Amino acid sequence: MSRVKIAPSILSADFTRLGDDIREAEAAGAEWIHVDVMDGHFVPNITIGPLVAAAARRAARGVIDVHLMIEQPERYVAAFAEAGADILTVHVEATRHLHRTVQQIRELGMRAGVTLNPATPAVALAEILPYVDLVLVMSVNPGFGGQSYIPTSTAKVAAIRRMLDERGLSEVELEVDGGITPETAGAVVSAGATALVAGSAVYNTRATVAENVARLRAAIDAAP
Ligand code: DX5
Ligand code: ZN
Repeated sequence: MSRVKIAPSILSADFTRLGDDIREAEAAGAEWIHVDVMDGHFVPNITIGPLVAAAARRAARGVIDVHLMIEQPERYVAAFAEAGADILTVHVEATRHLHRTVQQIRELGMRAGVTLNPATPAVALAEILPYVDLVLVMSVNPGFGGQSYIPTSTAKVAAIRRMLDERGLSEVELEVDGGITPETAGAVVSAGATALVAGSAVYNTRATVAENVARLRAAIDAAP
């Protein structure tokens, strides 16, 4: 199995020194930089948009992984392509014509991701799986960093891993987002995740970014 990616979420970074926070995470071995976009409608919080995604693009060497928690994400696909997103992920609950939105994302040269809220069953992915590059399992209700991992998410990750393998889609990335810590990471990787988002476990006052990324990597490597 190829190396599991770590995707620090800049939601928990210090925006007065965003470039440094991104470079520190990458220097510590993080492969992707996760950008959480919220609109105050799909989720009860407002964060950042294409301008900050573009700034992250300029700071980062690696992959910019944009997670849109917005209604009608199809309206902003072009703006995030322009901003330099490599992966653009939309919620199945937020777009009426998901297949069209996924096509739009790919036509603009990005990898297309789809994501599910915790209460949305895995079967909601059945028809779209052959058309996507990434599935993101939300393991908290989207809207805020620093929440606790919802334990039933592990079985959902395993179910989606089976769906992918049964369909011969093992190259599709399976990413998990919310409440990922050195304590929760191992089980998620064992269930079949290939990428882990971590916000508050990477950017906090308890340890440096390098120490926090190293702890996550150790937990991933120790996964049974
Ligand atoms: C939640 C966001 C997450 C969040 C993760 O709405 O999509 O990416 O920032 O934060 P932690 O890792 O602190 O749960
Ligand atoms: Zn996210």
